[in-house]
Amino acid sequence: MSDEPIVFINGEYLPLSAARVSPVDQGFLLGDGVFDVVSAWKGRIFKLEAHLDRFFDSIQAARLNHAMDRDAWKEAIIETTRRNRLADASIRFIVTRGEPDGVVADPRVFSPTCIVWAAPYVFLADEEKRRGGIRLMISATRGFPADTLDPRYKCLDRLHSQLIRLEALEAGYDDALWLDHSGHVSESAASNLFIVKKGVLYTPAAGILRGITRDTVLELASELAIPWQERKLSAFDVYVADEVFTCSTAGGVLPVREVAGRTIQGATPGPITRALDSAYWEMREAGRYGTVL
Ligand SMILES: Cc1ncc(COP(=O)(O)O)c(C=O)c1O
Repeated sequence: MSDEPIVFINGEYLPLSAARVSPVDQGFLLGDGVFDVVSAWKGRIFKLEAHLDRFFDSIQAARLNHAMDRDAWKEAIIETTRRNRLADASIRFIVTRGEPDGVVADPRVFSPTCIVWAAPYVFLADEEKRRGGIRLMISATRGFPADTLDPRYKCLDRLHSQLIRLEALEAGYDDALWLDHSGHVSESAASNLFIVKKGVLYTPAAGILRGITRDTVLELASELAIPWQERKLSAFDVYVADEVFTCSTAGGVLPVREVAGRTIQGATPGPITRALDSAYWEMREAGRYGTVL
């Protein structure tokens, strides 16, 4: 058996080198498609049902009435991960509008391309940054307003977040936060944001991708009796926070030590960040919400 990764594409499990997407696929030409990413840890996929709920919401809103039903996606996600013999994995599933019916494509006529790609799990930040915190810039580029492209679409159009990440990396930061069009904090390229002030946890209420890790952090905060609120936050709130962290499937709970040149006051990671980080990994180690591979 070769060690080449196996990907699922339109009903087939193929070696990566044999899997092909057409150069006229609408996902490739127009970014016309949606996706989601789950992670597996120690042989269990975390919150697969919640990720599938979000994926199907994106499919429904994008009118990508799909070729595969929920059970078929679930099977493809589990089977692709198994075939790659991965216990710790980052698993991306994608549906595009596929090949058009002609040169002037009618978006109502389509044959979706469905892909599952499972890769070994890699943390968003290295060990040093996971322990000591990352540095965030605040980008001059704003996120999409909900009346242009609602951030709840988990869609393939990611050029803006690539540009923002480039801007941050070139300026020597680890990642960037962007603001919405009213100047409120929304999120970063692939993470949601939390701050802590006087023992209370705050996170933006709207203008964001509804992160599954964000929901998990709120659930754990309730279990740990940490008071929390979803509300509008400005950059000022972030500058004067006692603790700041980001969260995502790829990064878990990731402490932030500096935002736009301001060092976050107090220890990094702070006590609430540490408690939530431990609780998150305990939840995963205990197999809560885990789908066994
Ligand atoms: C823009 C954005 N915000 C937040 C997140 C975090 O979401 P989750 O916790 O579901 O990984 C992501 C994940 O890719 C993202 O792309």
